[in-house]
Amino acid sequence: MIFLRSMISHPRRVGAVWPTSRWAVRDLLGMGDLPQARTVVEFGVGTGVYTGEILERLHPDATFLAFEIEPDLASAVAERLGDDPRLRVINDSAENVEQYLDGAKADYIVSSIPFTSLPAGPRQSILGAAREALKPEGRMLVLQYSTAVLPYLQRLFSPIERRLSPLNIPPAFLFACSVPEGPIQEEEAQESTGSSGLPYALGALALGTLLLLRRRRRRKKRSRPF
Ligand SMILES: C[S@@+](CC[C@H](N)C(=O)[O-])C[C@H]1O[C@@H](n2cnc3c(N)ncnc32)[C@H](O)[C@@H]1O
Repeated sequence: MIFLRSMISHPRRVGAVWPTSRWAVRDLLGMGDLPQARTVVEFGVGTGVYTGEILERLHPDATFLAFEIEPDLASAVAERLGDDPRLRVINDSAENVEQYLDGAKADYIVSSIPFTSLPAGPRQSILGAAREALKPEGRMLVLQYSTAVLPYLQRLFSPIERRLSPLNIPPAFLFACSVPEGPIQEEEAQESTGSSGLPYALGALALGTLLLLRRRRRRKKRSRPF
């Protein structure tokens, strides 16, 4: 319910009506080698579906910074998983990741932020901050509901491994982005022409509102005296 409410208040930022399925979470995390990592960062914790799975795979000495911009979501996850000494749930924008790393660099960034429905400014800042925060051999694992993000990723990362997670609703596109050794090739970094995630965000908002109204109606019915 907190997730749905966040979606209704900030549809472009939340960008989904329900959390990612366990299948897609596992598919995305399977694109990295988390048990070997010592510093892991999550962007867009939501209800913590990745956070719990990451903790299960993480080395006992690892550090895990998990960013969530919505205060209610951040505090719900901190309450549920915050006993784990490796985890720090941070209620701040992912753009500010460097401030929290204390000079360290990340082996992995796991992101489910809806980059294509975000305005260009925050999208560029978050992706730029991610690239700066990664070790040279680090990777950013990204889940999206369309491939529209690809040109933005290609401007900063190379190579980019791609997969599809078909059992998620809707099917999810997965990207494992490496830090390039040299400058990015111009033709790879071409600007996308007008594929915006806004229609998806609006559709998700409409669906979320319907689900919320249906739930409220059911609750009212249940509380009515016979
Ligand atoms: C599509 S939801 C994914 C939530 C969860 N990780 C999942 O997969 O179910 C995107 C999440 O990113 C969060 N978010 C959006 N912009 C953010 C930012 N700049 N910094 C941190 N979190 C952000 C939203 O509040 C939302 O919880």
